[in-house]
This record gives sequence, C-alpha cells and structure tokens, in this order.
Amino acid sequence: MISLSLCLLLFFVLCLKTVVRGDTDVSCVFMESCMLPCSFQGGANPVIHWFLLNRKELHVHSYYHNQDQLSLQDQHFKPRTSLFKDQISRGNASLQLTGVKVQDQGRYRCFTSTVTGDKESFINLKVDAPVNKVDIHQVENSITCSSEGIYPEPELTWSTNPPSNMTFNTPTRVQQTEQQLYNISSSLILSDPGTDVVYSCTISTRRNKRRAALKNSELFSVSGSSRETSVLCISSNISLTDFSLVWRFNHHQIILNQTNGNRTVSEEWRQHVKSVSESGSLMLQDVTKKQEGTYTCELSSAEETYISNTSLKILKGGQTTVLVIIISVVVGLMLAAGSGALLVYYKNKEDKNQL
Ligand SMILES: *[C@@H]1O[C@H](CO)[C@@H](O)[C@H](O)[C@H]1NC(C)=O
Ligand SMILES: *[C@@H]1O[C@H](CO)[C@@H](O)[C@H](O)[C@H]1NC(C)=O
Ligand SMILES: *[C@@H]1O[C@H](CO)[C@@H](O)[C@H](O)[C@H]1NC(C)=O
Ligand SMILES: *[C@@H]1O[C@H](CO)[C@@H](O)[C@H](O)[C@H]1NC(C)=O
Ligand SMILES: *[C@@H]1O[C@H](CO)[C@@H](O)[C@H](O)[C@H]1NC(C)=O
Ligand SMILES: *[C@@H]1O[C@H](CO)[C@@H](O)[C@H](O)[C@H]1NC(C)=O
Ligand SMILES: *[C@@H]1O[C@H](CO)[C@@H](O)[C@H](O)[C@H]1NC(C)=O
Repeated sequence: MISLSLCLLLFFVLCLKTVVRGDTDVSCVFMESCMLPCSFQGGANPVIHWFLLNRKELHVHSYYHNQDQLSLQDQHFKPRTSLFKDQISRGNASLQLTGVKVQDQGRYRCFTSTVTGDKESFINLKVDAPVNKVDIHQVENSITCSSEGIYPEPELTWSTNPPSNMTFNTPTRVQQTEQQLYNISSSLILSDPGTDVVYSCTISTRRNKRRAALKNSELFSVSGSSRETSVLCISSNISLTDFSLVWRFNHHQIILNQTNGNRTVSEEWRQHVKSVSESGSLMLQDVTKKQEGTYTCELSSAEETYISNTSLKILKGGQTTVLVIIISVVVGLMLAAGSGALLVYYKNKEDKNQL
C-alpha cells in the first residue's frame, strides 16, 4: 500500500516536472530585440551555454570563468547576443538577442551548471514581421494592392462596399525576399470602374492585419466667390484623432497635411481651403476653373488606409446663369402651355355649359 502511494507520488512529481520543464514559447518581432528567458539556482562560478537546435546544434552564447566565451559562437549570431551580467549571480541566464532575423526561429536550449547541479530548459522562438503598410493605387481600370516585408506568409482578400457579387479570383503574387520575408500583391481588373464603390483589400498574417480602401467619385461645383464646395474624404462620421490625413491635388501637389491634429495647409491653397471637417472632408471656397481636377484624400490610422479620389468639375458661374435661364424658359413655356391648356379646357367647359 505504502509503495503504491509512493509510486503515485513519484508519478505526480515526474508529471509535474515534465509540465514545468515544457518548452516556453517566445515570439519576437523582426529586427527588434528579444529576450529568451532562462533561470537557474544561482551560485558561484556558473557555466551557461545557449544552443540553437536546428538541423545541428549551433553555439549561440557561452559564459564561464565569469566572462563571455564566444570563440565557438556561430557566425549567424555575431554580434547580436548578450547576457544580463549583473543578474547572473542571482540565477538569471536569460539571453538578449538583437536585430531578430527569420532564421533565428527554432528551439533553443539553455544549459546551466553550478556546484549545486546542472539544469537545462528549452525555448521555442517564433518570429513575426507584422503587416506594416498596405498600399493601394489605381491605374486606369486596375486597382493594385500590395505590402512588403511580412512573416509568416500573409493572406490577401478583396471586398467592396456596397457588397458586390463580383468574383475576386484575381491571382495574388507572393515573393520571398532574401531575408525570407514575403512581398504580396494583387490586382483587381474592373470591368465597370463604377464611381462611389469602395474597393477594400485586407492583408493579414499571424500577428496583425491591415486594410486599405479606395473610392472614386465625381463632384460638380460652380465657380464664384460666394460658393463653397465640400469634398468628402470618408462618408462615415469618425473623428480624426489617431489619423493622419493628406489631401493632394492632381496626384502630386499637396494641399494639406494633418498629423495628430497638427495641420499644415500649403501656401498656394490657403485662400481656397476654408476648413476641414472632423472626418477629414475639405471645404473649399473661391473655386475657379483652375481648381478643376482630381482631389485625393489619404487617411491612415494604425490599421487602415483609406484613399478617396474625387474628380471635381467646375461649371462657370456664367454657364449656370445660362442654365438657369434655359430652365426658367422651359418651365415658363411649360407653365404657359399648361395655363393655355387650362384656359382652353375651361373655355370649352364654359362653352359646353352654355349649351
Ligand atoms: C533577467 O534579467 C532581465 C534584465 O533585468 C529581466 O528583464 C528578466 O526578467 C530576468 N529574467 C529572469 C528569468 O529572471
Ligand atoms: C483617380 O481617378 C483617376 C481618374 O478618375 C484615375 O486615373 C487615378 O488613377 C485615380 N487615382 C487613384 C489614386 O485612385
Ligand atoms: C450578379 O451580377 C450580375 C452582373 O454582373 C447580375 O446580372 C446578377 O443579377 C447579380 N446577382 C446577384 C445575386 O446580385
Ligand atoms: C520586396 O519588396 C522590397 C521593397 O519594395 C523590394 O526591395 C524587394 O526587391 C522585393 N523583393 C522581391 C523578391 O520582390
Ligand atoms: C458626427 O459626430 C459628431 C460627434 O462625434 C456629432 O457632433 C455630429 O453631429 C455628427 N455628424 C453627423 C453628420 O452625424
Ligand atoms: C506630413 O507632415 C509630417 C509632419 O509634419 C511629415 O512627417 C510628413 O512627411 C508629411 N507628409 C507629406 C505627404 O508631406
Ligand atoms: C506641428 O507642425 C509644425 C510644422 O511642421 C512643427 O513645427 C510643430 O512642432 C508640430 N507640432 C506638433 C505638436 O507636432
């Protein structure tokens, strides 16, 4: 009976031990620094060895005789490793790795030895290169969405708003760079480059996802000093706190630039920019034929980029006067015709009544 309990106890202890000694997962960001934790029972003259267990065991970092021992260090890790020297006596053998590369991924072994005994622990290191910026741009009837330097391999999806049943079986090109990161891009060919449709592209990977969207629209306005024209950036009512906003004219000329509520309006546009709304829309004043062109708004937050492309057509004040006159004439004629018809009708009615 006693031996059975002892057996059970031993089993639990062993069980617990394997749980405790299971691999620790550490996820690191590409090019940043990262700490691989390892601790031991502190003691005098510790020996510390770090290894990477890939196809073969690579020497990552060693420490004994109270100093770093790097003669066997693998070339790949030079000069990117260090220990927390002041913490070693307290049993801290954690490894600091800088400029993390995709090739650093793998299972690491931390071996420590002191007079009190040996210990080893294992770390699984994973590397992520999050989606940084998604670019979206249009050339004629083709919209291209792309991003670079991502790990692990990302996914790209298209959608529209309002939703359409258009099939997005567009091929996605994925290329791997020398650093083993992924570049991704996809082009959507529009059969009907309709205006006021939002085309969105989402690129996602293990750590994050980002979206970029694009919309084209047309706007007509009238020249004249008393007129104001509002060029919409985004239709929803969001307030611009964590966004950056750039308005461009004819793709290159910058009208204004706003980051963290700090707005800069270019010199030549000051007289035309009346205000900017909470959601980034541009209120123009004193527009003439010279301000006719494409207004591009680029709104970006940490997760999203939104581009709206508005083609503004300016009608001359004179033209509208002519238009108004024409309309008045037509309406007048219609009214005249109408009243004429009525007169005839009543006249007929009267005549009939008189009969
Ligand atoms: C080791 O020291 C570093 C630096 O002070 C600290 O960030 C880390 O948490 C310590 N690790 C352990 C296992 O004590
Ligand atoms: C904006 O629209 C014009 C034509 O409507 C097009 O040529 C241009 O590529 C568009 N730009 C962007 C950024 O979508
Ligand atoms: C899908 O699109 C086609 C034209 O592109 C249209 O004829 C059809 O009605 C649409 N179907 C639905 C369910 O919207
Ligand atoms: C990936 O994108 C980067 C940045 O634009 C570029 O320098 C590199 O050549 C691209 N690599 C491949 C394999 O396409
Ligand atoms: C937009 O939101 C602000 C507050 O967030 C509100 O004061 C304003 O009335 C809203 N505008 C519209 C058009 O919904
Ligand atoms: C907008 O302004 C910020 C800071 O003022 C600057 O860093 C950024 O390059 C500007 N963007 C453009 C497109 O000019
Ligand atoms: C706002 O922009 C101006 C000009 O670019 C710059 O001098 C100033 O430091 C900026 N302020 C903030 C809070 O970013």
